[in-house]
Amino acid sequence: MSTYLQTIEDVYAAAARQPDQNLCCTSAPVWRFPDLAIPPAMLAMNYGCGATVEPRDLRRDDTILYVGVGGGLEALQFAYFTRRPGGVIAVDPVADMRAQARKNFDDAARVNPWFQPDFVTILDGNALDLPVPDGSVRVAAQNCLFNVFRQHDLDRALGEVARALKPGGLFATSDPIAPAPLPEAFRANDLARAHCLSGCQTFDDYLAAITGAGFGRVEVRSRVPYRLLTPHEFPELREAVMLESVEIAAYKMPDGPDGAEIFTGRTATYAGREEAWDDGAGHVLPRGVPVAISDAAAGRLARQQDVTLTPPTYSVRGAGCC
Ligand SMILES: C[S@@+](CC[C@H](N)C(=O)[O-])C[C@H]1O[C@@H](n2cnc3c(N)ncnc32)[C@H](O)[C@@H]1O
Repeated sequence: MSTYLQTIEDVYAAAARQPDQNLCCTSAPVWRFPDLAIPPAMLAMNYGCGATVEPRDLRRDDTILYVGVGGGLEALQFAYFTRRPGGVIAVDPVADMRAQARKNFDDAARVNPWFQPDFVTILDGNALDLPVPDGSVRVAAQNCLFNVFRQHDLDRALGEVARALKPGGLFATSDPIAPAPLPEAFRANDLARAHCLSGCQTFDDYLAAITGAGFGRVEVRSRVPYRLLTPHEFPELREAVMLESVEIAAYKMPDGPDGAEIFTGRTATYAGREEAWDDGAGHVLPRGVPVAISDAAAGRLARQQDVTLTPPTYSVRGAGCC
């Protein structure tokens, strides 16, 4: 195993033995659902940087693959929707983390009458070699793990998720991103990488890795400030860097005619005299009604008369026409 991957496993083994509230620093509130009680030990191990659980994505008969179980918070939230033995499969290579997650699920069963610990199957496994068959799950998720991987491992981890998903399946992912490529000296800081800081890619590079792995349709659900890094704290940085956290839904689908379809919240509205406008490429815009469009479609429509475009909101749930 590469030394940097070993450092990551060591950091998370320690964070399993002793919760470290500063390990990841999401300020987003934790999802609360009716009749879902989250044990305090699980809450103290919220090592995510966003959320990957979205009720509108989920069906009772889903099998959900969760990569990097942490304290089990999101696996429990997913199990809230599947509610059957083995409905959630959580994979983690760190024995201490798996043991702590098991304890946390036992605690969760004591305070949630609807939950049984076997609703989550915990597997010893690695994101780089997932212990599940091809095309076996409709939903896969990871939160704040993939940013720690170097490019070739990230590509491999994304390829593994794509392999495990059924065609059309959803990959819900959340990671921190950087506003510009981080200095090489900082990228070489393995401890900061394990803390989800120095491995961050730019937004465009992160999306390119996802689409390159076979996810032809992507929705950017959230993009918010996450953590300010300063040269005082990290001398490898020349200036302060504000990391953001993104939440993405990526679908295992072929690319559209313009390549992968990335929805960032842009809309197009036809403002002409007709009832509707047909762009001749299969897209009909009714007059006066904003329609969600991909970034590629926005590029195509940018010089179109009588079409008004709006900028990204980074808050997309359910994408639009093209
Ligand atoms: C930043 S924590 C995130 C935990 C969880 N997703 C959450 O939101 O709280 C990263 C998790 O990935 C696990 N992990 C570390 N290396 C891994 C690998 N190569 N494959 C899968 N999981 C890994 C760690 O043990 C830890 O549970």
